[in-house]
Amino acid sequence: MTSEQLPEQFPGQLSGTSVLVLGTGGIAVATARRSARAGARVVVAGRSPDKVAAAAQAAGATGEQVDLADEASITALAGRLGVVDHVVNLAAAPANVALDRLDHASLVRAFDAKVFGPALLAGRLRITTSLTLFSGFIAWRPAAERVAMATANGAVAFLAQALAVELAPVRVNAISPGVVDSGSWDGLGERKEAFLRSAAAANPARRTGTPEDLAAAVLFAMTNPFLTAATLHVDGGARFA
Ligand SMILES: NC(=O)c1ccc[n+]([C@@H]2O[C@H](COP(=O)([O-])OP(=O)(O)OC[C@H]3O[C@@H](n4cnc5c(N)ncnc54)[C@H](OP(=O)(O)O)[C@@H]3O)[C@@H](O)[C@H]2O)c1
Repeated sequence: MTSEQLPEQFPGQLSGTSVLVLGTGGIAVATARRSARAGARVVVAGRSPDKVAAAAQAAGATGEQVDLADEASITALAGRLGVVDHVVNLAAAPANVALDRLDHASLVRAFDAKVFGPALLAGRLRITTSLTLFSGFIAWRPAAERVAMATANGAVAFLAQALAVELAPVRVNAISPGVVDSGSWDGLGERKEAFLRSAAAANPARRTGTPEDLAAAVLFAMTNPFLTAATLHVDGGARFA
C-alpha cells in the first residue's frame, strides 16, 4: 500500500470542529487536506502571504498570517481566531551549520518556530481539544551540524509533556518524523534523490516518509482521546539507523 492509499481513518470524525495548521510546507498541506476531508473547518497560517494562499487553496482551507518569532503577531492571530479545537504546529526554521558558524540569531529562530512561538500561542489561544507539536528524529540520533535542530526537537518533546499537564484536559502530543520528502529537501537539487535513497537504505522501514504518512499520524493524535503527553516516532525507525 502506498502512503497516498492510507485509508481515511476518521471519515467525518472532525465534522463541526476547527483546525489550525501552522506552516505551509508539504506535511502542513497534507495535514490540512486530511483534516478538511475529515470534516473540519481548516485554517492554514504562515509567514509568507503567497505560500499561505497556495497551501490554503491546495487544502481547501482559509489562510491567516502569523510569524511565530513575533509575539505581537502571535497575539494578533490568537485574537482573530479566539477559539480553535485542534492546533498543529509544522513550522520549522532549520539552522544546519557547523558549530563554529552557528550564531545566536539562528538558534533563536529555530526555537521560535518550534518551541517559543507555539508555547506563547498556547497561552493566548483558547484550544478546546488537542495541540500537536512537531519534533524530529535528529533529537534522538544527533549528527554533526545538527546541534540547533537536535536541541530544538528535543525541547519540543518536553514542551508537549509540560503543556499536557498545564493545559489538561486539552491533549498535547509531539510527532517526531524521520526523513520525509516534504519539499524541504528540494534545496539539495540533484543530490536530493541520492540523499533520500541513502536515508531509505539506512532506515529499518527501508523507505523515507511521505507527507501523507505524517498527516495520518496527526489525525490519530487529534482524535485518540487517551493520547496525551506522548511523542509518536513516525520515523521509519531512523533513531536506530
Ligand atoms: N521533512 C523532513 O524530513 C523532516 C524531518 C524531521 C522533522 N521534520 C519536522 O516536521 C515539520 C514539518 O516539516 P516540513 O518538511 O513539512 O516543513 P518545511 O517544508 O521545512 O516548512 C517549514 C514551514 O515553517 C515555516 N516557518 C518557519 N519559521 C516560521 C515562523 N517564524 N513563523 C511561521 N512559520 C514559520 C516556513 O515558512 P516560510 O516558508 O515562510 O519560511 C514553512 O512554511 C517541521 O517541524 C520539521 O522540522 C521534518
